[in-house]
Amino acid sequence: MKAIVFKKYGSPDDLQLMAVAKPTPEADEVLVKVEATAVNQADNHLLSGMLRFSTGLLKPKQQILGSDIAGRVEAVGSNVTQFQVGDAVFGDLSGYGRGGFAAYVAVPESALALKPANISFAEAAAVPMTAVTALQGLRDKGQIQPGQQVLINGASGGVGTFAVQIARALGGEVTAVVSARNIEMVRTIGANHVIDYTQEDFTQTGQQYDLIFDTVGNHSVRAYKRALKANGRFVTCAFLPALLLLAPWFSWREGKTMVNMMAKPNQNDLVFMTGLLEAGKVIPVIDRCYSLKDTADALRYLGEGHARGKVIITG
Ligand SMILES: NC(=O)c1ccc[n+]([C@@H]2O[C@H](COP(=O)([O-])OP(=O)(O)OC[C@H]3O[C@@H](n4cnc5c(N)ncnc54)[C@H](OP(=O)(O)O)[C@@H]3O)[C@@H](O)[C@H]2O)c1
Repeated sequence: MKAIVFKKYGSPDDLQLMAVAKPTPEADEVLVKVEATAVNQADNHLLSGMLRFSTGLLKPKQQILGSDIAGRVEAVGSNVTQFQVGDAVFGDLSGYGRGGFAAYVAVPESALALKPANISFAEAAAVPMTAVTALQGLRDKGQIQPGQQVLINGASGGVGTFAVQIARALGGEVTAVVSARNIEMVRTIGANHVIDYTQEDFTQTGQQYDLIFDTVGNHSVRAYKRALKANGRFVTCAFLPALLLLAPWFSWREGKTMVNMMAKPNQNDLVFMTGLLEAGKVIPVIDRCYSLKDTADALRYLGEGHARGKVIITG
């Protein structure tokens, strides 16, 4: 089968389209024919070797990247109970060695859920990692409540476009921070208010929010805190090292909770997202689609940091 392989750490230039052996599913695994995958910033981080202490010191242990998949079940292992051959599924393989940039991948059934019936494979591939990050950030870490003032910093990206819609679906009044070219798009997906970050710094306006969900990490911890109401919550998925030191102090002094989050792939959360997608409360925003052979171009484009929604690989 065809796959995009990296044998050494580097850049998208080090990716090769190769023929590799088609995987055979273990007893608890499902073999999925991949119809679409999404590229994530994590793929670029892994490719660069930034995480080599866990992914292989000198060269990558797993040579096929790609966490988000949507596809059709081709075969099932003897212990698989949830899926049958022919089912349309989607999932996040980041806890299972990845392997999505390929024609087929074998994964434990717990990584998958049935694909929402009303969306395409390309749209389904957009969902798992970034939507679940937004969901866990807003609902679990952010403890969002109906009627709260919620600000999403980086609302036009992969995580942000889901965060805007999930925050609205969970009852928040949403302020989206984007640049001018994305104002119309975030209004279309439900933002109640929009701030153009090239014109206005939301941490300097005096306005305060119950919950700030951040995907960019471009302000100081003190600046983010300034924009939080008393007892407000700040959650970032763009790791801020200073939080480790300062968050306990801010919590003790001002009752403001500020946390770095790391999403955990979770079958229940995929099913939760299916509910929102099938109800039409969340619609994946797709910027561009590339073919598998052009995965390197997709990663380069994503790496520029200005994608509008998700970047998808089909076929
Ligand atoms: N912790 C976790 O579990 C977890 C999970 C998933 C992702 N992440 C991380 O979360 C971050 C966001 O991921 P992503 O997939 O959403 O990235 P992305 O799709 O590449 O985000 C790109 C978006 O960010 C916007 N942006 C850039 N600078 C901005 C600024 N100063 N203010 C507001 N918006 C700005 C861009 O808008 P413009 O073009 O208008 O600039 C663009 O739409 C990445 O660092 C990723 O590694 C973490």
